[in-house]
Amino acid sequence: MRSLIVVGNWKMYGSLQTNETLVSQLIAEVPREHQHRCVLCVPFPFLGQVGKLTSGSQFVLGGQNVSDELEGAHTGEVSARMLKDLGCQYVIIGHSERRRDNFENDILVAKKIDVAVSQGLTPIVCLGESLEEREQGKTEDVVQSQLDGIITEIGTSKISSCVFAYEPIWAIGTGKNADPRTAQEVHHYIRSYLEGIDVSLANSVSIVYGGSVKASNAKDLFSMPDIDGGLVGGASLSGPEFAKIVMAVEK
Ligand code: PGA
Repeated sequence: MRSLIVVGNWKMYGSLQTNETLVSQLIAEVPREHQHRCVLCVPFPFLGQVGKLTSGSQFVLGGQNVSDELEGAHTGEVSARMLKDLGCQYVIIGHSERRRDNFENDILVAKKIDVAVSQGLTPIVCLGESLEEREQGKTEDVVQSQLDGIITEIGTSKISSCVFAYEPIWAIGTGKNADPRTAQEVHHYIRSYLEGIDVSLANSVSIVYGGSVKASNAKDLFSMPDIDGGLVGGASLSGPEFAKIVMAVEK
């Protein structure tokens, strides 16, 4: 069974003070009995604070990155076990901003997935093409090669523990979302590709859309047959806006 899920990715934003306001707005506006998963992926220094604020609520916690090593002399890195210790259930892996800024490739992404799953975290694995690749008609080749790169490294069994996020790079932070039919085509492609590997995997894995999701477009995007929710950046920093997006995920 595919689950529906909306993830807020705060990126490098927030402060102790603004986090408190944001989380209290979210808890007040999203009904406690909301049926679907809502995740807040917050900067590492705020995990403790937001973990306390969301404790017992409808929101669960996630990291935005994780080390590919279990532990050791790796200054500045954060391990999967530490994330678990702080109450995280999810972690974003292979976000295009990390692929761009930190030169993360599919091999590293695969290693991070492996470590995260071994510690009981659910990886939210980002896939997606650049504008240039889309214009050259290479979207499917790009997402397929990202998937293949991961599967070659760690096989398919760990993939069944992942949530995938299709995030076209040209739609991230630009205000220009993929229109629902365009996004659906790629989601369908990803699911069909996984189906070719394992039918039950394709039927159980959640694939969320990311890239300029807002309250005004969330319902149309999430109502597409292969879109199981969203990964939301900018709009997750406003309580009222993100609450509306969370509640738009109803099939
Ligand atoms: P955006 O970011 O919603 O601000 O476009 C999405 C993401 O990068 O996860």
